Amino acid sequence: MTEQEIKKGLAGVVVDTTAVSKVVQETNSLTYRGYPVQELAANCSFEEVAYLIWHGELPTPEQLAEFTAKERSQRAIDQQLIDLVRSMPEDCHPMHVVQTAVAYLGGVDPEAEVETPEANQAKAERLYAQLPTIVAIDHRRRHGLDPVAPTEDLGYAANFFKMVFDEVPAEEVVRCFDVSMILYAEHSFNASTFTARVITSTTSDMYSAVAGAVGALKGPLHGGANEAVMAMLEEVGTADRASAWIDQALSEKKKIMGFGHRVYKNGDSRVPTMRKAFEDMVRAKGADDLLNLYNTFEEDFVGRKGIYPNLDYPSGPAYHLMGFDTPQFTPIFVMSRITGWTAHIMEQQASNALIRPLSAYNGPEQREVPVKNG
Ligand code: CMC
Repeated sequence: MTEQEIKKGLAGVVVDTTAVSKVVQETNSLTYRGYPVQELAANCSFEEVAYLIWHGELPTPEQLAEFTAKERSQRAIDQQLIDLVRSMPEDCHPMHVVQTAVAYLGGVDPEAEVETPEANQAKAERLYAQLPTIVAIDHRRRHGLDPVAPTEDLGYAANFFKMVFDEVPAEEVVRCFDVSMILYAEHSFNASTFTARVITSTTSDMYSAVAGAVGALKGPLHGGANEAVMAMLEEVGTADRASAWIDQALSEKKKIMGFGHRVYKNGDSRVPTMRKAFEDMVRAKGADDLLNLYNTFEEDFVGRKGIYPNLDYPSGPAYHLMGFDTPQFTPIFVMSRITGWTAHIMEQQASNALIRPLSAYNGPEQREVPVKNG
């Protein structure tokens, strides 16, 4: 096999079909079940989008009422899981906590190995309802705080803020969070979704596939970029330092976090929507210095390299302004992407073929093992 025939990173390779979302490289657009993401973000709640991703259609008011009531009723987690989260080392990355919690939920679910569509839909909806509770407990315990129990009186986003901060912030903040959840929910065969599909293709269970996907999302070239963006902006500090910082980073051949994309080469269609929600929040919170740094850095880097921001560029500073600890940004991404992952897991199960590519061997030719004397 020649070098040209090997598609490093599977770049440009079409692996399977999917009806969950469509990425159009030429127009940099993204649709979920046929609807453009920016229109969904302008007109829907995350709960409606979660329903759409799983069921293929937006819910009627009755379907939405039933769906949200079920989500609200499943938010609480058992005491053993609370204790498990609180027993993890305080300096471990929160994605390890999320991965451990998902594995635990698989271990205690008597239907973990039941692979019917109904059983898997029920598992997906429980993970969607319980991941925010897990992330919130982990966030609080790192500040020496006890858990705040979920409440059925609040919507998905407001309840999450209540569980983390024991209060619900201004409307712009809740809306910005909800928009981020909608934009992060699904993205075709990205690395973590593909990981989930690979695991599913072996006929392993949904929890195992999700735990694997959490591991893939953690990396800074994928979901971990939203944390890395904030760490980078904090290191740069102020807008007047952006240019010199970029000079130095590029001279050291560093990747600039939150910029570039494997598929979108002329901009990510999710960015204008997230950026607008971030700006609305900046206005509400009066964080002009951060916005100035954000704009100056972007203008400078795009001007030099023609490499555009991806969704992680506006979402990192947005989560920072909301008050979340930087290492919790990727677990928040998990809370959203659980919808896309589980839709893909069920799609893979419905039409499975073991995913097992080939490799071109470039090690030593076959040789004999030396015979040991005596
Ligand atoms: N900073 C500096 N140079 C870059 C960047 C960047 N962020 N992105 C691409 N390039 C350069 C790269 O060095 C290469 O240059 P050359 O041809 O001179 O070697 C060229 O652009 C092509 O890059 P590539 O790495 O071959 O492109 P890719 O499609 O493999 O990489 C990427 C895509 C996302 C891994 C990369 O753009 C990157 O590392 N970005 C920073 C991390 C990031 O923001 N990740 C989030 C991705 S989107 C959300 C998600 O998936 O969760």
